[in-house]
Amino acid sequence: MPKNSSQQPKIQYVANAPSNIAFLKYWGKDGKQWASNDSISMTLSKCETITQATDSSDDRVYLHGEYLNTDSKHGRKIYRHLQFLRTIVGVEQALEIHSHNTFPLACGIASSASGMAALTIAALACWTRSSNLTELAAAGYPLAKLAALARQGSGSACRSFWGGIVQWERGDSPATQRTYQLMPANDWQLADVIVCAQSPVSKDISSSAGHALAQTSPLFTVRRQGMPEKIKHFRQALQQHDFVQLGMLIEAEALEFIQVMATSTPPLSYLTQDLYDLLAFVRACRQRDNLPAYFTVDAGAAVHIICVADVAEQIRQKIQRNFHNFMIIVDKIGAVPRLHSRPAGQDSN
Ligand code: PMV
Repeated sequence: MPKNSSQQPKIQYVANAPSNIAFLKYWGKDGKQWASNDSISMTLSKCETITQATDSSDDRVYLHGEYLNTDSKHGRKIYRHLQFLRTIVGVEQALEIHSHNTFPLACGIASSASGMAALTIAALACWTRSSNLTELAAAGYPLAKLAALARQGSGSACRSFWGGIVQWERGDSPATQRTYQLMPANDWQLADVIVCAQSPVSKDISSSAGHALAQTSPLFTVRRQGMPEKIKHFRQALQQHDFVQLGMLIEAEALEFIQVMATSTPPLSYLTQDLYDLLAFVRACRQRDNLPAYFTVDAGAAVHIICVADVAEQIRQKIQRNFHNFMIIVDKIGAVPRLHSRPAGQDSN
């Protein structure tokens, strides 16, 4: 006898999506989610968001096991994106969402990139009953389409759909922007030694508000004018696997990003004095100890030290010896998101 629907076990759709660190930053928008410039990032491996979606009688979102209100800081963005996705897909089914990051919240690692990517995949998988990315593509949602949808929740999320090194091209109009892989993850063993605050640091200014301020900096126009040349140099360094060249570009870009924020009205800074000291320390390690490592930063209280995987542990130890109040996460270049389904109640990832 066929089981009636109430006897069917509920199915959970589980997406793992990586975070990414931008070598060339997306900072400033020309219109709704239309980046002012192209950006280039490295997809991470360990730092990811895992999101489960199941059918529910109303939308309910849990982050690290805690229920989020629709008007809470994180809740607002997540419920809004869920509703946006539902309208695009043209369904009414409400969802229960459970999400957690493999890295601490508000420590300066971009959880909105991995979070919005994982939410987009899990929600669409549940609505279309897709148990893997191939089925989701067959249902009309290939990675490129998912990336374009995730971008509406958080711009940088669109780069988390490809592994390795990824470019988000702004195109000639909002509709022609796209993201694509510049280099697969196994082409160059790059690592990211992430040094961040041990306890959550709440941001006074969100990255969305920061994007809006970018154009108030007198340096913003200069930055934009230099972009085509900068992108060319980044791509050359990547093609030639020239780490010194790439590192110098990454660091120069990080300093330009810091300067644009510092000269915005009102001025913006996400780094603490200790983290500024760390920037100088990374340079000293390079000059004094010949360690090939270059820093970058993001819109959070963290410094990302980009190096080749062979020296990552050495760098971690050096920082641990010299700086005592930070958490250090050693991550490396990573691959594409993953999707699977399972009967509800089986919670291992
Ligand atoms: O994706 P958003 O809107 O949170 O913006 C992120 C911007 C930066 O992280 C500062 C830079 C980037 O390109 O990831």
